[in-house]
Amino acid sequence: MQLVVVQGGRPLKGTVKVSAAKNAVLPVMLASLLAESTSRLEDVPDLADVKIACELIEHLGARVERRDGALFIHPPSQFTGEAPYELVRRMRASFLAMGPVLARSGSVRISMPGGCAIGSRPIDLHLKGFSLLGARITQSKGYIEAHTPGLEGNRIYLDFPSVGATENIMMAACLARGLTVIENAAEEPEVVDLANFLNAMGARIKGAGTRVIRIEGVGYLEGTSYSVIPDRIEAGTFLAAAAMAGGEVVVENVICDHVKPVIAKLREAGVQVEEGENSIRVTGTGQFRAVDIKTLPYPGFPTDMQPPFMAMMTLARGTSVITETVFENRFMHVNELKRMGARIKVAGRTAVVYGVRRLTGARVVATDLRAGAALVLAGLAAEGETEITNVEHIDRGYDSLVEKLQSLGAKVSRVHGT
Ligand code: EPZ
Repeated sequence: MQLVVVQGGRPLKGTVKVSAAKNAVLPVMLASLLAESTSRLEDVPDLADVKIACELIEHLGARVERRDGALFIHPPSQFTGEAPYELVRRMRASFLAMGPVLARSGSVRISMPGGCAIGSRPIDLHLKGFSLLGARITQSKGYIEAHTPGLEGNRIYLDFPSVGATENIMMAACLARGLTVIENAAEEPEVVDLANFLNAMGARIKGAGTRVIRIEGVGYLEGTSYSVIPDRIEAGTFLAAAAMAGGEVVVENVICDHVKPVIAKLREAGVQVEEGENSIRVTGTGQFRAVDIKTLPYPGFPTDMQPPFMAMMTLARGTSVITETVFENRFMHVNELKRMGARIKVAGRTAVVYGVRRLTGARVVATDLRAGAALVLAGLAAEGETEITNVEHIDRGYDSLVEKLQSLGAKVSRVHGT
């Protein structure tokens, strides 16, 4: 098993470049299956989830090549096989293969994703959308099967602005006959990026980034070249790291607009944040006020930044109330932070964080991707050494996190441990 070992108490200094967004590149990779020809994706981040997505795409009959730093996806004329449990279980985003395969081939068999550490993660809104588009859906032995003689556009209201459901339905609707309107759609930047990619392939999508997305079906799509947006959650993670550890950090390759909620909360906490053209400079003193946060769908405070921000609030002056409205069980990092001396009380979807003067290093477990990031940040600010196990979670969504922190002067390393 691999561990990340952090020696705390050192300020961060320097410049770090954010990689392309995990939550943009995964849907775009699967959307490329909608085309009849090859797509070329530039600057694809080196993530465990990207590797799983490549395995899935090949399993479905496509060919994937990594060449000159780009990823080439050659969609199949005929889809083979299904999206199997062992792949979907390892990466929930595999479920986004359902829309493209159903739209291209008229039938798909895909494992239900199951839950994960942060919640039950249902797929009811995805399935509601597909059945409204004319798919006949059955479920057996943990698999979903969907068949259609041809998808027909329809009006689909999402009870919750689900990112995945919006993306899955939007992809399928590109090849449906007629107009599809998705109401109460997710507005995340990654949804907009996917719509831009689909339109570059010849789709006719309007309104992405608003609560109403209109998709005029077309006959076919052609592969294209594309480079996805930078990762706003990785950017936010580095901003919080600089605020906690202290020092001066410039985070480059950032679309400041996408990180507005995090910048606002850092400034509310008294952290100095300066926005550049496509970079953000944080001057951290390690001292900051407690602020309350409530996670919401975009443009609200992102749920993926809740664990790293909670890590920061454990050292704030005062008490912070953190409310997680998006997922029902996203406080798995609380008990690990408490092992480091944090004082946190959880009641349902609310965590009350009583700022303490110091955290002390300990051996802790990364339970999921963003919880792992939160523990690395806590280790940077803690006194002594912190050992974080199960770091494969972190590798799913952060490209070279250890190396990037080392380049900022952090004493952090990855070791093979017991
Ligand atoms: C995407 O997950 C992201 N993953 C998540 O990032 C992110 O936390 C989440 O959006 C919210 O922003 C990818 O993009 C690959 P949702 P997704 O559907 O699409 C409920 C990370 O750390 N819901 O918007 O699964 C669901 O239970 C990951 O990078 C239904 O009820 O999120 C949850 O409470 C974690 N029925 C809420 O919506 C459905 O059919 C948000 O889920 C679908 C979702």
